[in-house]
Amino acid sequence: MIVIRLFPFIFALTLVMTVPRTLAYKELDTCGGDREYPLGVCRYTDDCCTIKRYVMQKKINIKDVPSCGYDSPFKGKMICCPKTDTQGTTSGPPILRFTGSHLVTMRYLTEHRDDYSYRFTGVLLSSSLVLASKQCDAADDEGLPSRVKLGSQDARVNDKSDIKIYVDRPTSYKNDLVLIKLRTRLNRTQLSENVSIANLCHPYDLLGHPQFFAAGYSYNTQKNEGCKKYTMELENLNLNECKNVKVTRQIEDLATDQSHFCLRPIPTFEMKNECSKCLTATSSVLHVQRRDGSQCVAGIATPTNDECIEDESPLYFTNILTKSVSDFFNGE
Ligand SMILES: *[C@@H]1O[C@H](CO)[C@@H](O)[C@H](O)[C@H]1NC(C)=O
Ligand SMILES: *[C@@H]1O[C@H](CO)[C@@H](O)[C@H](O)[C@H]1NC(C)=O
Repeated sequence: MIVIRLFPFIFALTLVMTVPRTLAYKELDTCGGDREYPLGVCRYTDDCCTIKRYVMQKKINIKDVPSCGYDSPFKGKMICCPKTDTQGTTSGPPILRFTGSHLVTMRYLTEHRDDYSYRFTGVLLSSSLVLASKQCDAADDEGLPSRVKLGSQDARVNDKSDIKIYVDRPTSYKNDLVLIKLRTRLNRTQLSENVSIANLCHPYDLLGHPQFFAAGYSYNTQKNEGCKKYTMELENLNLNECKNVKVTRQIEDLATDQSHFCLRPIPTFEMKNECSKCLTATSSVLHVQRRDGSQCVAGIATPTNDECIEDESPLYFTNILTKSVSDFFNGE
């Protein structure tokens, strides 16, 4: 209810704040950051997704929201839209210090089999094992991953410091997951600031109301290649809220308690971008943001279908903390 009432309020606010500004702000200019008001960027009211949360949490008073004036006279007035995370954007949750150094991406032959590109997301479980979605294994006729790249923030970028290692043929866990073995084990030097073994959650990380988020390499559907890492906050739902999820691949025990999670992305405003955060098609990884600022891994997006669906509907994640999944990767 508050959400619905807030926007007309902000709209009314933009009309009453008629004090002319001497400073001309442009969209995405930095603003705020003084003692009264959090650091933010100038945005049009409708484009600011963080303000609702700040007002609801009573961190700011709607009357105190600074105006950034007009950038374009046709688009209304801009406000100072508070930032929420440490990654320098106004989208996304307050995910602290997330570098995702335990996330890897896989190399495939391109469609015409004359080049390679990296896409999908996997989790480094040990110095020689990567866990990923079953979708990363022979997705249609794209073949198997030949290498993994570790330590990269952007799958497209070829950085000298990235580590690339050939991999063996993956082994599958049901229709959900694959385990990919590195042909050469990572040594201590390679497990550096940019490459780390994933921290798996403990059952107690899931008690109460954990703050979930997904992370992975985003995806350019036109070029069929991965892009930058992303994070997206998720809300935990009851399993039966996932009953309308489009399932085009057979998944065992989908609606069984414990084996899968049902979560929904929390919408955030984002500029249109060539790279999509389609949670299933990027094989995103489910994390819990702990109160102490650390993060742990709890699941991998269940490959219910291969499409890049980028909306706010609920989706399944395969719980990787169950005994049967840990028996699977401990057996390897
Ligand atoms: C970590 O990544 C950054 C950015 O890509 C790079 O400049 C740096 O050299 C990397 N560090 C190591 C130890 O590889
Ligand atoms: C770690 O592995 C890399 C790549 O195989 C190699 O160049 C490096 O010498 C190794 N470092 C140690 C300490 O073994």
